[in-house]
Amino acid sequence: MGILGRKRAFSDALLPLVIAFLFSTIFVENFTVVLGLNYTKYRQVSSLRLVRIQKHLDKINKPAVITIQSPDGDIIDCVHKRRQPALDHPLLKNHKIQKKPPEMPKMTKNKATLKENEEKSSSSDDQLNRNMINKDDQKVMKDAWQMWHKNGTRCPKGTVPIRRSTVHDVLRAKSLFDFGKKQRKFSLHRHSDAPDVVSGNGHEHAIAYTGTSQEVYGAKATINVWDPSIQVVNEFSLSQIWVLSGSFDGSDLNSIEAGWQASPELYGDSRPRLFTYWTTDSYQATGCYNLLCAGFVQTNSRIAIGAAISPVSSYSGNQYDITILIWKDPKLGNWWMGFGDNTLVGYWPAELFTHLADHATMVEWGGEVVNTRPSGEHTATQMGSGHFAEDGFGKASYFRNLEIVDSDNSLSSVHGISTLAENTNCYNIKSFYSNEWGTYFYYGGPGNNPQCR
Ligand SMILES: *[C@@H]1O[C@H](CO)[C@@H](O)[C@H](O)[C@H]1NC(C)=O
Ligand SMILES: *[C@@H]1O[C@H](CO)[C@@H](O)[C@H](O)[C@H]1NC(C)=O
Repeated sequence: MGILGRKRAFSDALLPLVIAFLFSTIFVENFTVVLGLNYTKYRQVSSLRLVRIQKHLDKINKPAVITIQSPDGDIIDCVHKRRQPALDHPLLKNHKIQKKPPEMPKMTKNKATLKENEEKSSSSDDQLNRNMINKDDQKVMKDAWQMWHKNGTRCPKGTVPIRRSTVHDVLRAKSLFDFGKKQRKFSLHRHSDAPDVVSGNGHEHAIAYTGTSQEVYGAKATINVWDPSIQVVNEFSLSQIWVLSGSFDGSDLNSIEAGWQASPELYGDSRPRLFTYWTTDSYQATGCYNLLCAGFVQTNSRIAIGAAISPVSSYSGNQYDITILIWKDPKLGNWWMGFGDNTLVGYWPAELFTHLADHATMVEWGGEVVNTRPSGEHTATQMGSGHFAEDGFGKASYFRNLEIVDSDNSLSSVHGISTLAENTNCYNIKSFYSNEWGTYFYYGGPGNNPQCR
């Protein structure tokens, strides 16, 4: 009895260990496959479906003057400006492509408001930290900052670079209709004065936003770029600006969005990519990401929307950021997108919009992830750098120099922002003010951890 008993006790104790070991092996294997940078799911596809997909691709992939192979596998087509997807839009049949807006937003100094805000600058440690790593290690994206630039070939004058969509890209989407769109089952939900924070559909945010009492004609920010890990194919992590108008409760919200995103479903890998988005009906039928539907008119021959950004920031190492400006041209009413200090990317024509035909009522800046609760727990998909706001410069991701454009077409530092994060144990945000960075914030987090299950 004695020996037997001990033996049984031993094997009883061992069994759970063995099971746990087997489980962890299976789990690790699944995980590796998912994160193996090849998110294409293999399933049977009917030939009819393939024909439908090919027909759609033939519509959105325009004939290329030349084609550039990016080292990351992307194919960039240099498409004649007049043949770009935007002009397929029924409202843009006779559209005359603008070369540039009549005027850029004017910079204004905020001397008057600086003093009052200096007190808020509770971040002297942060300043010190930034100065230590700053300058040399804080890089401005200037010349070759997209992966495809490494090819060396440039798009010829009069063409625009467009990332070619593949059958695999469409097969990863839930349906052909969903390809290039944000998830539809958005139940926009407004808690009194808070913005489009949606509880229950798995979208989680850490954002800063302006009040609703103001008429806004544009927004700008410089956004730190990282390479967050994404746990499963249908989750994403993005860092962006939202320019919004219309009702959050209804089905007519107009939104213009731009920033960087990591979305395996959309791109087949989790590299951070420059993206744009627009909708005029609360993410239902109108609008799409990038140039995946008719709408956004591209004017730039060097920037490919949807192409990977490289290099990206590293922990305690070099920090890279991108500057994005979205504003309404007061003369023609088009919403332009600028990149860096003086580069134009293109514009969303005035004809596309209803509420935004006038002005925006709110701007948001920050991060969003989708949490599908894979394996029954909160996702480990990271926001920003994957580190919480309090880790500060070089560790947490930031948005700096938050500015808005007023009715006078003048840029000014935004004041009186509110911040919001649904579950600060998963992702959080902390905002500050300094002379050099104006209004800025750190945001992000790891998702799943002992306090976030
Ligand atoms: C993904 O894997 C499939 C099957 O092994 C392969 O055919 C395809 O080329 C891969 N795609 C990428 C982007 O690596
Ligand atoms: C650049 O793209 C061209 C055209 O697709 C391709 O033939 C060439 O090998 C690429 N060069 C590099 C260095 O990747």
